[in-house]
Amino acid sequence: MEDSQELAMSSEVLLVSAPGKVILHGEHAVVHGKVALAVAVNLRTFLRLQPHSNGKVCLDLPNIGIRRVWDVARLQLQDTSFLEQGDASAPTAELVEKLKEVAAFPKDCANPERAAVLAFLYLYLCICRKQRTLPSLDIRVWSELPTGAGLGSSAAYSVCVASALLTACEEIPNPLKDGEPASRWTVEDLELINKWAFQGERVIHGNPSGVDNAVSVWGGALRYQQGKISLLKRLPALRILLTNTKVPRSTKALVAGVRSRLLKFPEIVAPVLTSIDAISLECERMLGEMVAAPAPEHYLVLEELIDMNQHHLNALGVGHASLDQLCQVTMAHGLHSKLTGAGGGGCGITLLRPDLEQSVVEAVKQALSSCGFDCWETSIGAPGISVHSAASLDAPVRQALDGL
Ligand code: PMV
Repeated sequence: MEDSQELAMSSEVLLVSAPGKVILHGEHAVVHGKVALAVAVNLRTFLRLQPHSNGKVCLDLPNIGIRRVWDVARLQLQDTSFLEQGDASAPTAELVEKLKEVAAFPKDCANPERAAVLAFLYLYLCICRKQRTLPSLDIRVWSELPTGAGLGSSAAYSVCVASALLTACEEIPNPLKDGEPASRWTVEDLELINKWAFQGERVIHGNPSGVDNAVSVWGGALRYQQGKISLLKRLPALRILLTNTKVPRSTKALVAGVRSRLLKFPEIVAPVLTSIDAISLECERMLGEMVAAPAPEHYLVLEELIDMNQHHLNALGVGHASLDQLCQVTMAHGLHSKLTGAGGGGCGITLLRPDLEQSVVEAVKQALSSCGFDCWETSIGAPGISVHSAASLDAPVRQALDGL
C-alpha cells in the first residue's frame, strides 16, 4: 500500500511566512536576568513547499545562493537512528557532525550557510521519519530579512520549515480555508511548530535563548526574563524605521565586554542594568496604556525611553560611531533612535510617530541611505507564522518563490 504514505502526505502546494524580530528594550541587560521586550517586525521570510513524485528532495535558498538536491532513496538508506533523541533533547555537536555526513558535506567545508541546509535536513528527517517512506518535495525559501543582522532571520527560516513540514506530513492540519487569503494555526499546533523550530535554531546556533523563534511563531510582542517567555496580550500599531548600519559585530564579544565591565565596576554598571530593566517595564506599561487610549504624550514617553536606553547602552560599551551617526541623522529630523540587539554596529530602530509627514520619513530614509545604511519602514507587532493563498501574496514575493 503505497497509499499509507500517500494518505499521510498532503499533495497541496503550501505557502507560509514568518516574521523577523527586533528587541525594543533590554538587550544585554537580559543576559544578567533583567527584562527584555522583543517584537515581531513586518519583514518576513516566505516558504513554498511543493510535493513531488520525482524521488528527490530539493532545497532552494536564493538569498544565499544555495540549492541542494538529495535522492530520497539514498536518504532512506542512511542510518539516521542517531536522530531518535531529536524529539526531546538538544541536537548535540555530535549529532550535527553525523548530519553533515548525511548531507554529504565535504569534511573541510567551511561555508557558514551550510547551517541552514543542516537545519533543514534535521527537521526533514525528524518530522518526516514517521512516514513509511520519506516524502519527495521541493522547498524554496525567500526572505525580506537580511541575514546575520540580529533580526531573527534564522529563526524565521526554522519556523517556516518546521510549519511547512509538519503540515505536509499532516502532523498538523492546514488551517487555510477555501477563499481565505491567510490563516494561522491553533495554539496547540503553534506550540508544536515552536518546539521544532527551536530545534532547528539549535542546529544553527548551538545554544539560542528561544526568543527569536517564539516571536516568529507567535508574532506581536514578547517579554522575556531568565528563560521565561510571555506574550504581551495586546499591542498598539507602532511604525518604526529599521536601519542596518551593515557594520559587522560579534554578539559574543559584545556580551563578554559588558560582563567584564560589570565585574570591573559593579557599583557603576549594575545600576545601569537595573535602570534598563525599569525602562523595559515602563515601555511595557506604556504600550498597554496605548492600546486602551493612544495619545500623543505616549509617543513622547516612548521617545524618552529610547534616548535614555541608548545612553545606557553606550555606557555599557556597546555603542558604535555608525549608531551615533544614526541617532544624529534621525534627531536632525526630530526622531529618536536606539541600537537594537547586540550593538557595536548592526541595527538600530527609530520610532515613527503617527502624525509624522511621509515627506519627513522619506527625507530621513534618504539621509540614512547616503550614510551607506539600509533602511526599511516597517511596523511592529506583525502576525506570527501564517499560511497564505497564492493570490494573497504580493507579486514580487510570488515571483521570488516561483524562481522567476
Ligand atoms: O543581535 P541579537 O538579536 O543577536 O541580540 C543579542 C541580544 C543580547 O542581549 C545582546 C544577547 C542575548 O543573548 O540576549
